[in-house]
Amino acid sequence: MTDTLAREAAPETNPAPKRLFIKTYGCQMNVYDSERMADVLRPLGYAQTETVDEADFVILNTCHIREKAAEKVYSELGKMRELKDSKGGAMTIAVAGCVAQAEGEEIMRRQPAVDLVVGPQAYHQLPELLTRTARARGERIGADFAAVDKFDALSADGAAARGVDGPTAFLTVQEGCDKFCTFCVVPYTRGAEWSRPVADILAEARGLAEKGVREVTLLGQNVNAYDGLDGAGAASTLARLSYALAEIPGIQRIRYTTSHPNDMSDELIQAHRDVPALMPYLHLPVQSGSDRILRLMNRKHGRTKYLELIDRIREARPDMAMSGDFIVGFPGETDRDFEDTLDLVRKVNYASAFSFMYSPRPGTPAATMAAQVPAEVARERLQVLQALLLEQQIAFNASQKGRTLDVLFQKKGRHGRQAIGRSPYLQSVHVDDADHLIGRLVPVEIVSGQQNSLTGRLATMADVPQRAAV
Ligand code: SAH
Ligand code: SF4
Ligand code: F3S
Repeated sequence: MTDTLAREAAPETNPAPKRLFIKTYGCQMNVYDSERMADVLRPLGYAQTETVDEADFVILNTCHIREKAAEKVYSELGKMRELKDSKGGAMTIAVAGCVAQAEGEEIMRRQPAVDLVVGPQAYHQLPELLTRTARARGERIGADFAAVDKFDALSADGAAARGVDGPTAFLTVQEGCDKFCTFCVVPYTRGAEWSRPVADILAEARGLAEKGVREVTLLGQNVNAYDGLDGAGAASTLARLSYALAEIPGIQRIRYTTSHPNDMSDELIQAHRDVPALMPYLHLPVQSGSDRILRLMNRKHGRTKYLELIDRIREARPDMAMSGDFIVGFPGETDRDFEDTLDLVRKVNYASAFSFMYSPRPGTPAATMAAQVPAEVARERLQVLQALLLEQQIAFNASQKGRTLDVLFQKKGRHGRQAIGRSPYLQSVHVDDADHLIGRLVPVEIVSGQQNSLTGRLATMADVPQRAAV
C-alpha cells in the first residue's frame, strides 16, 4: 500500500500561468476527487487545460478495479514519458487514485518519469508534495488512511473554493468499504467505511446551489451505509441527509450511488416515497443471480432478498428505474448459475446496467479460488447477458414516448440550438431549440426513445401540469 511517494522533479522552468491536465479513470468518486485536486492546486496558479501538450503538471487519476483498467495506466504513462522528454523534462507527472494506492512503488519502479504517487486520502497534500518533489527521491509521506484529514482540508476553504461546471455536481459523502466482496480491491484501495459529517455536506451543497447547481449526486462506495454525525453528535442516515438536502433552496434533484442491497433500509425506501427531489433511479448492484455464487462472492444476501427488496422499493416508488452491476465468469460459475442471473435480470427488468467479465485482482480471495472460468466461456456469457440488458434498456427508453418528463438541461447539443439534459431516470434527452434553458429544469414531451437517449420537444405551457409529477 502506498499513500504518497515523491521524487526529485525537473527544475521549474515555466513560471505562471501553469497548466494542469488531469485524466480521470474509474468511478464517479475519482471524478469528484479530480475536481478537488484542481481546486487545491488553483491557488498555486494552476489553471486546468484540456490539452496535455501544454501541461506543466499531469495527473493520472487511476482505477484498479479490473486488470485492464490498471494496465491502461502504464501504457498512458509511456506516452506521458515521451511528452515529458520532448519538453526536456519540464513536466511533472503524478499518479493518483486506486492504482497509486495499490501499487505505488511498482509505478515508481516501472516508470521513472513519474514524479509523484498520491493515494486517494492524500490529495490535500498535493501542494506540499509538489514542493517536496524537489527534494528526496522516493520520499514517503504519510501512509495511513485518514479520510477525515482529507475532507477537513478539502473543505476548510471548502464549498466556496469548489469550481462548478453546469447544473449538476457530484458530492462525496462516504468513502471506503468494509464489505470485502471476494473479487473486489476497493476495501484495500479506499480503506474502511467513513462518512463525512452532515454539516460539512450541507455546507458544500449550499455552496453548490448558490453557484447554480440544481442536482447533486451523493457519492460513496457504499453510499447507503452513510452514517455521518449530525449536529447532536449522533449518527445520521442517508435518508435523513436526503430530507435535509431537499430543503436547500435551489436543490431540485438528489441522486446517490453506489448502494449495497444490505444497506437499503426501510427508512431510505420510505424517503423515495416522501421526498420528490429523490430521483426515481437506483443503482443497486447484485453481481449475480445465483445464491451459490453470491455466497462465494461474500455478498451476504441471496437472490430472494434482493428480489423482495426491489418489490418494496417499487411499492414506495412505482416508476423506480433500476440499474445494477453484474459479474460473469466468477470462479466456479456454472451454466446453471448463469441461468439464475439471466432469470433475475428478467424478473427485475433493468432500465440500464453494467456488466463485466470477472477479472482476478491480486490480493483478493477470489483470485486464488479453484475453478476459474475460461475466458471464452465468460465472454460468451457476457454477450448473452449484455444482449438481454440492452433489450431491456431499449424497451425502457421506448416506453417513455408520449410522456412529459422534467429535464434538467446541462449542455449544448451538436446541432444548432439543441440542448441536452437528463430525465428523472438519468437518460440523456435531446431537445431542439432549447439552449436558452441550459441550467434549468423544464417539462419536455418525449417523442421517441432510442438505445442510449431520448428525443423530446418542449411541452407547451398548456400541457404542463402545475407541478410535474417527476
Ligand atoms: N461498491 C459498489 C461497486 C464498486 S466497483 C458495489 O458494491 O456494488 C464497481 C463494479 O465493478 C462492481 O459492482 C462490480 O460489478 C465490478 N467489479 C469489481 N471488481 C471486479 C472484478 N474483480 N472483476 C470484474 N468486475 C469487478
Ligand atoms: Fe467492492 Fe463489494 Fe465493497 Fe462494492 S461492496 S466496493 S463490490 S467490496
Ligand atoms: Fe476504480 Fe478505485 Fe473507483 S478502483 S472504481 S477508482 S474506487
